[in-house]
Amino acid sequence: TRPIIIDTDPGIDDAVALAIALFSEKLDVRLITTVGGNVGLDKVTINALRLLKFFNKNVPVALGADRPLIKEPIDASDIHGSTGMDGFDFEEPTEDLVLKENAVNAMYRVIMDSKEPITLVPIGPLTNIALLLKMYPEVKENIAEIVLMGGSTGRGNAGVMAEFNIYADPEAAKIVFQSNLPLVMVGLDVGLKALVYPEDSEQLKVMNQTGNMIYQLFQKYRGGSMKTGLKMYDATAIAYLLKPEMFQVVDTFVDVELNGSMTTGCTVVDLKGYLGKPNNAKVCVDIDPQMFKQWFMDSLKKCN
Ligand code: BDR
Ligand code: CA
Repeated sequence: TRPIIIDTDPGIDDAVALAIALFSEKLDVRLITTVGGNVGLDKVTINALRLLKFFNKNVPVALGADRPLIKEPIDASDIHGSTGMDGFDFEEPTEDLVLKENAVNAMYRVIMDSKEPITLVPIGPLTNIALLLKMYPEVKENIAEIVLMGGSTGRGNAGVMAEFNIYADPEAAKIVFQSNLPLVMVGLDVGLKALVYPEDSEQLKVMNQTGNMIYQLFQKYRGGSMKTGLKMYDATAIAYLLKPEMFQVVDTFVDVELNGSMTTGCTVVDLKGYLGKPNNAKVCVDIDPQMFKQWFMDSLKKCN
C-alpha cells in the first residue's frame, strides 16, 4: 500500500475521490487536511468529517488555510451548492477525528514520522502545500511525489485560461510547481473527459450505500445538469495513483501566471520548450474515457 495525504476542499467531486481512496486496498490514507476552496474552511472540514463518518473510516483530519496566501478567497458554491456538498442528508459528525495541530504541522509530522516516503494528493487550492514546503523544506526528503488535481494545458474553468484550484491561489500553486519535487499535474485536459452520465448515475443509485449517496450528490452537482456529463475532476488524481495506464503523460515545464491582465492563474505548460527551462512536471494530457469509466464504476463497487 502506498501512504498518501489528501489535501481537500469537499466538494462533490472531492467526495467521490475520497470514497475511492479510502476504500482502496492499495492506498493508505494517513491524513486528510482541509483547505478553503469550493466553500469556506469550516464547511469543507465538516464535509470531510461527514464523509468519514458515513464511510466509517477513522482518518485524522487537520484544518488548514481558510484563505489564499495573497488574493481574496473565491468559491465554487455555484457548482457544489452552498454547503459544498448539497444533495445528501448526512448525519452530523463528531469532532473526534479533528487534530489539534493545523494542517501544515500535521503534514510535517506525518511525513517526517513515516518510514516510507509519502505521496501528497492535493485536490483543492494549493495553499496548505505551499505553506508546508516553505515552513518545513526538510519534508521534501520524505515526499515521494505530489499528484495534484489542477491546471490545464488549454482553456480554464474558472477563468478563460485558469483552472479553479490554481486560480483560487496562484501564488501557492507557483510555489508548488517550483518546489523541485516530482510532480504530476492531473488537470482539465483529463478532467473534462472523465464524465459520468445519467445512466451511470442510475447504476450508482442501486450499487451500494456509497453509490447511492453519490447519486444523490450528483442530483445537485452543477445544478443537476447531467446530460452533457458530470466532471469527475478530483477522482482523476486518484485514478492516476491507481491506474496510470489510462493516461497519456508528458514530461515538461510548467509555471503559473501571476501577473496576466487576463490570464492570472493560468498554468503555462511549455509543451514545445519555448522557455528552455528544465522539466518540472509530468502533465496528464489525455485519458482513455472508457477505461476511466470502467475503473470508476469498479472502484465505487468496493466502497461499502
Ligand atoms: C476543481 O475545482 C473544484 O471545484 C473541484 O473540486 C476540483 O478540485 C476542478 O477545477
Ligand atoms: Ca476539489
